[in-house]
Amino acid sequence: SNLDTLYRQVIMDHYKNPRNRGEFEGETVTVNMNNPTCGDRIQLQLQVEDGKVKDAKFVGEGCSISLASASMMTQAIKGLQLDEAIEMSQIFSDMMLGKDYDEDRFDLGDIEALQGVAKFPARIKCATLAWKAMEKGINDQK
Ligand code: FES
Ligand code: FES
Repeated sequence: SNLDTLYRQVIMDHYKNPRNRGEFEGETVTVNMNNPTCGDRIQLQLQVEDGKVKDAKFVGEGCSISLASASMMTQAIKGLQLDEAIEMSQIFSDMMLGKDYDEDRFDLGDIEALQGVAKFPARIKCATLAWKAMEKGINDQK
């Protein structure tokens, strides 16, 4: 359908032009995580200030879905309170699992393009890799 085509274009745009790819110098929350089914891995760094995600960057090796999702996630969480970022991750997880989720809680923007991936169970782990890394980084802070 046209929607599937649009979703694919959005994913490919993030894959080819990743936002927030790189590493910070200085103090960060750093998490390394891999997808056990394929061995792909990501390093996520968060700059946390006043209980908020001030900035986020990632590097890693992975498929187009995992890297596009990391790009989208690092864009989306900037400026959020830590508990809001966790909440967004839960919404994303529900979206990927085909459960009902609150579409209006956050501006999900490009993230909704990953719904097209949810039809393929093997790819859900790809799409959630960066989000799990983010949750771990924040939960380890508490
Ligand atoms: Fe191979 Fe994601 S685990 S496609
Ligand atoms: Fe490894 Fe997608 S194939 S993260």
